[in-house]
Amino acid sequence: MAYQRIDGDPDPETVRGLTFVPFLPDGRCMVAPGPALPTGEVRPGEYYLLDTSARIPMDTVGFRFQRVHPFAADGDHVYLWLDGDRYRADGHPDAVVATAEELADRLDPATAEVVRDAAHSFRTQTDASYYADNVRVLEPAYLRGTTPQAGSGFGGDAAGWRARRGMILDGVHRPGTFLDMGCANGLLMESVRKWAGERDLVLEPYGVDLAPGLVDLARRRLPEWADRIEVGNAIDYTPADGRRFTFVHVLLDAVPRHRRTDLIRHLLTLVEPGGRLLVSHYQSRGGSDRSAAEHLRDLGFPVAGTTAAEGATTAWLDQTA
Ligand SMILES: C[S@@+](CC[C@H](N)C(=O)[O-])C[C@H]1O[C@@H](n2cnc3c(N)ncnc32)[C@H](O)[C@@H]1O
Repeated sequence: MAYQRIDGDPDPETVRGLTFVPFLPDGRCMVAPGPALPTGEVRPGEYYLLDTSARIPMDTVGFRFQRVHPFAADGDHVYLWLDGDRYRADGHPDAVVATAEELADRLDPATAEVVRDAAHSFRTQTDASYYADNVRVLEPAYLRGTTPQAGSGFGGDAAGWRARRGMILDGVHRPGTFLDMGCANGLLMESVRKWAGERDLVLEPYGVDLAPGLVDLARRRLPEWADRIEVGNAIDYTPADGRRFTFVHVLLDAVPRHRRTDLIRHLLTLVEPGGRLLVSHYQSRGGSDRSAAEHLRDLGFPVAGTTAAEGATTAWLDQTA
């Protein structure tokens, strides 16, 4: 079979080999010396969209993906682009970083075509496809998690969770309601309530997530708040009763980069006067991406405060209206 562009995920049963085109936060590609695209076989028991897509780019160039998208196939070999960042600042010093166009100039014609197709697919992805990718990859990954932390996409244990997520409390300055927009299995809403309670602040938690399977899981884990957890998209969610929240928390990467201003403007409408929109960005520790505050300032928003823990950052905007 010949190399052809595809739209959708090939059946895992049929996929044997993978080739990746990894994109850094600045839009450049990060590939192996040569230059060569990270390539390898799917091992028995691996789900190629999660396990193999994590293993091969990490082992070959120290790249960690946030999003993965198949864009071409040649028989049982699939080509995927990755959106992510370098994992360690000092790792894989030989990795080649270049724009897709620069890379294509240095590659043989067939591989250059792969890089050009990847760049086209990555740069022209529709919003609907972005959200579908999020659900398709995150939902099964979190549902497979064997710890509460893994059910929220966190690789460490309870102590690590507190060390990295506890910073969000720095932005919580009063009692009230707390909406976690992108709540996964509900662990953050549960944790923030507990941590605020330790400071004598009573928080009433709410949760919204794009992935229906995760909303079901969060409702099962937190039956007392089941009616406060619902399916929705951060870009346009509004509560049926029109309520506003004292705090709304969201991750920058809930939406495509070009929709971030829309996301922030919309979520500010859900925050009550005197409340705060808390925006987190969980960068890789050794990564090249900027902080939540830097992203928000670039977009023209007046950042009222910031905090950071182990590479992750949270910045907040005060709601005065
Ligand atoms: C890394 S988890 C975050 C869990 C928790 N809120 C935290 O900060 O640790 C990201 C969650 O956001 C959800 N998500 C991604 N895009 C979203 C969107 N546009 N609207 C709502 N939820 C979204 C995903 O389904 C996933 O469960």
